[in-house]
Amino acid sequence: MSSDSLRIIQILLLCACSAFAASDVDWWESATLYQIYPRSFMDSDGDGVGDLNGITSRLAFLKEIGVTATWLSPIFESPMADMGYDVTNFTKVDPLFGTMEDFDAMLAKAHELGLKIILDFVPNHSSDQCEWFQKSIRREDGYDDFYIWDDGKIDPQTGVRIPPSNWNSEFNGSAWSWNEQRQQYYFHWFLVEQPDLNLRSPMVHQHLIDIMKFWLARGVDAFRIDAVPHFFEMRLANGTYPDEPVSGFTNDTNSNRYYSHIYTFNQPENLEILYEWREFLDEYQRQHGGDTRAMVAEAYATADILSDYISNGTHFGTQLPMNFNFISLRSNMNAKDIERFANSWMDVIWTKHKTANWVFGNHDNSRPATRIGEKRADMMTIIAHALPGTSVTYYGDEIGMTDYDTKCTPSNCDFRDPVRTPLQWSSAKNGGFSTGNSTWLPVNSNFKTLNVQRQRGVARSTLNIYKGMTALKKTLAFKSYKEEGGFAYEALTEQVFQIIRTAPKLEEYRVLANFGRQIEYLYGLTNKTMEYVLLNAYSPHRFGDKVDLSKRITLMPYEAVVLRWVA
Ligand code: NOJ
Ligand code: MG
Repeated sequence: MSSDSLRIIQILLLCACSAFAASDVDWWESATLYQIYPRSFMDSDGDGVGDLNGITSRLAFLKEIGVTATWLSPIFESPMADMGYDVTNFTKVDPLFGTMEDFDAMLAKAHELGLKIILDFVPNHSSDQCEWFQKSIRREDGYDDFYIWDDGKIDPQTGVRIPPSNWNSEFNGSAWSWNEQRQQYYFHWFLVEQPDLNLRSPMVHQHLIDIMKFWLARGVDAFRIDAVPHFFEMRLANGTYPDEPVSGFTNDTNSNRYYSHIYTFNQPENLEILYEWREFLDEYQRQHGGDTRAMVAEAYATADILSDYISNGTHFGTQLPMNFNFISLRSNMNAKDIERFANSWMDVIWTKHKTANWVFGNHDNSRPATRIGEKRADMMTIIAHALPGTSVTYYGDEIGMTDYDTKCTPSNCDFRDPVRTPLQWSSAKNGGFSTGNSTWLPVNSNFKTLNVQRQRGVARSTLNIYKGMTALKKTLAFKSYKEEGGFAYEALTEQVFQIIRTAPKLEEYRVLANFGRQIEYLYGLTNKTMEYVLLNAYSPHRFGDKVDLSKRITLMPYEAVVLRWVA
């Protein structure tokens, strides 16, 4: 065994001893969350599509890499027009992924290993094949206003019927589609196949609560709530929907960006429903005991809006509105950008609520290794885990997977396919993901060199850095972040980012990451002598080396390290 590998084991042991000492931190407050895209994680039956049994067979991997909880993108019955975000039955597992028994077995195994399971909850819309929508088309009892229906308007010039408003859908084109059978338009923010539920209907509320109850009763630990900013759209007192103003961003009148979404995005009523669900989940916990049933919310919104998602002072909502600031980092980023994006969360949300989370990737956005750069993938891992709060990792990013041009044809293409390719487990056939003859998306051609198995054996691989960081995240210094002086971060230069994590009077960790192509010199950072406990492949140092930080220190291009001082 190399001395590097020995050192990593030492860190892991050391961390295990001081783990969970900061007991005032609830599980979701300092968690390592991991997103599984079920189609692409692990295929157990050789059909080329990932499934629940596949996930069960790899839960030990999540444990190995220090994950606290994993959220699964939708596993529910769906025609897959939007890969499961178009649900026909919210309490049924799609046969593609397995059966309810498979689900129960997965959950039981996860709990046995001490892992929490977070399910995706899609309350904004259903599939157009959903029984509710079919009933709504037929105006069946109670279902009449289950979705957002309208007659539309008559164009005064042409006499032709036109949609009720100029609203364009996220995937472009009118957000209103005509339904022949009901002879009305229905509203869909996303695809034509994804009609929006009418969240103003009390019956819809009841159905949504029932879905949560169903999964909670099976033992699900938390929910990730899809598309929160899109819950409500402006409806005037006279029942009409106002046109949105032109944004000036594009000349394409079909484009979603053609209009400024002042009536279809982040409406204040969105908060009320989050508060309602929080009350329900807290009450559920009071009645049934167990850990906090948290809500993770997907919302691309400003910190001020997300702050109210957590609480407006009188009501409480979602504990974890996802912080997508780092999703906008591109290859031209530097340490100042990290500082600016971190501040934009911390100055507002940390100041008010003492909570933070850091998302670096998901199934809708280019992967960090591609977006920000392969040489910086490790730094992103280090920063995501060293900043105070909860880290959120998209499957595959723990080994630095890259976007893969899947060469899809226009008819069966999703612009997000490149970030959804199968997890690269090993250099075996299909990257060890499936024994089938083909996989639903091709495995990235770099799988022979970039895979889990190979990175396990390389001391400074992205995977081992990930493991080192999740272990550090369990130390007192990383957990006690709510205490005075528990953390600090700063761009020391344009390219060097520093994070300090402290358990006062006990120990201190210092992250130094050089994002640039140049050697950087730093002077007199502190009077402490510290030890290198984690190093990326660009560092010339060795685990256990000591460095006197009162003197000049050097960071090589792309070097990232964690230093440790013990009282
Ligand atoms: C957000 C999800 O992340 C995305 O994948 C999906 O297409 C939309 N919501 C619609 O559900
Ligand atoms: Mg399968």
